[in-house]
Amino acid sequence: MKAAVIGASGLVGSHLMKTCKDRGWDVMGTYSEHAQKGLIPLHMADPASIEEAMQKMKPEVVFLTAFNPNADYCEEHPKETWETNVQGNANVIEASQRIGAKTVYYSSDYIFNGKSGPYEEDATPDPICEYGKQKLAVEQMIRRLTKNHLIIRTTVVYGWEEQGKNFFCNLLAHLERGEEMKVPSDQIGTPTLVNDLAEASCSLVEVGASGIVNVAGPDRMSRYEFALHIARIFDLPVSKIIPVTTMELKQPARRPLNAGLLYDRLFQLANLQMKGVETGIRYLKETEKQTP
Ligand SMILES: NC(=O)c1ccc[n+]([C@@H]2O[C@H](COP(=O)([O-])OP(=O)(O)OC[C@H]3O[C@@H](n4cnc5c(N)ncnc54)[C@H](OP(=O)(O)O)[C@@H]3O)[C@@H](O)[C@H]2O)c1
Repeated sequence: MKAAVIGASGLVGSHLMKTCKDRGWDVMGTYSEHAQKGLIPLHMADPASIEEAMQKMKPEVVFLTAFNPNADYCEEHPKETWETNVQGNANVIEASQRIGAKTVYYSSDYIFNGKSGPYEEDATPDPICEYGKQKLAVEQMIRRLTKNHLIIRTTVVYGWEEQGKNFFCNLLAHLERGEEMKVPSDQIGTPTLVNDLAEASCSLVEVGASGIVNVAGPDRMSRYEFALHIARIFDLPVSKIIPVTTMELKQPARRPLNAGLLYDRLFQLANLQMKGVETGIRYLKETEKQTP
């Protein structure tokens, strides 16, 4: 298989690169702001850089992970992030189509309102923040533009990464420095180990899956409970984790509180078991700080 990872310098993209290589696939990846050895530059707002990268890579499958996933930033900069995220993803999808490649797009449970999670693939979207609206807009666009696609919805992705900005890395950094961290006790989701997400993505491509598939962990818990698991397994002080409500946190973007995703379709299609939170965090402790 010949694959391209758009956004290979990020959390999901870097693990996709590793998983593709481990499977013996021919894979190339792109970065935007964070240059990494072996990656080629691609800026979603610049169609020429997309065309150039696609011509260089000529992939059969394009894993489209590039996005600004900072919900609060999207909320405060809706116009700017719509341009890069929605129009930018459109540019990549159109370029993928021109070379006949399958597009694998990464969506989120933020497309739901968080009143009745966990969600199956056919639940009705109703985003309550700008980031969720943008994720849904790209889903709708990809379905309109091409049949040759796979939409993977995922949530609360955690694991080792070079940029160290996901919740898991961020919490560890705070606790290792002896700092307190406020964590919402009313945001419920299904944490997903990034290594499993990457494995599932490649397996779904191998079985020829299309349409929407949820890829998420089997355990459903609040962000606070998730943080306690991380601290205990890494022998760090749980007393530094302060439970707060989302209202108290005053985050600019509204969050879908009762969220998370059900992954029965993934199991049917690829017979994959996703790791639960205990096993996933223990796995990360064993592979401490090993970024792909
Ligand atoms: N992480 C989660 O919990 C989660 C949950 C649900 C869905 N998702 C979705 O999964 C995908 C990947 O998320 P992630 O956590 O891996 O994000 P990430 O770590 O922030 O990585 C984003 C990637 O996109 C690239 N990028 C950002 N803006 C770009 C632009 N304008 N042009 C080209 N590339 C650009 C970044 O490149 P540089 O770093 O080099 O600038 C980086 O490689 C996103 O679509 C996200 O919405 C993530």
